[in-house]
Amino acid sequence: MFQAKVIDSTSKPELYRQLAGELAALLQGERDPVANAANMSALLYMTMPDLNWAGFYFSRGSELVLGPFQGKPACIRIPVGKGVCGTAVERGATILVEDVHAFPGHIACDAASRSELVVPLVKNRTILGVLDLDSPRKARFDAEDQAGVEELARLYVTGSDAP
Ligand code: SME
Repeated sequence: MFQAKVIDSTSKPELYRQLAGELAALLQGERDPVANAANMSALLYMTMPDLNWAGFYFSRGSELVLGPFQGKPACIRIPVGKGVCGTAVERGATILVEDVHAFPGHIACDAASRSELVVPLVKNRTILGVLDLDSPRKARFDAEDQAGVEELARLYVTGSDAP
C-alpha cells in the first residue's frame, strides 16, 4: 500500500524534489494513463498545501474532456481556446494565473478558486491534455511552482501511455 510521506521541506525546490521522488515511485511499473493520472491527482491534492482542485483534462479532438481529479465535480468538456485550460492547449504553454477574476474567459468550476496553474502534457510535440491545479488563495503559484509542476507533468507523460 502506497503511503505518501509528509513533506516537511521549507523551500519549494526541495518540496518538488521530494514530490518528484514520490511520484516516480507511484508510477513505477504501471503505464495505464488513467490509473497514473488518478494516483497523481491524489498525491498532489494530499501533499501540496492550499489546493481545492488537482486533476487532468485529456485532449479529444478540438476539446478537452475531464479526466481523473480530486476536488469538487468540474465541467466536463472545455473547447480548445476556452478557459485557462483550453488556452494553455492553444498556446502549447503553461499558464499561471495569479487571480482568476483577472483572466478573461476563466471557467469557474468552483467559486472558491482564486489562482490556477495549468501545464500542458506534451509528448513528441503532441498535446495530450493538461494538468490543472486550483487554489482558493490568490497568487498561490509562482515560477518555482511552475518549474516544479512542469517536471511532475513530464514524469507523468514519460511514465504513462498516451491517454
Ligand atoms: N478553471 C478552468 C476550468 C477547469 S476547473 O478549474 C477544474 C479553466 O478556466 O479552464
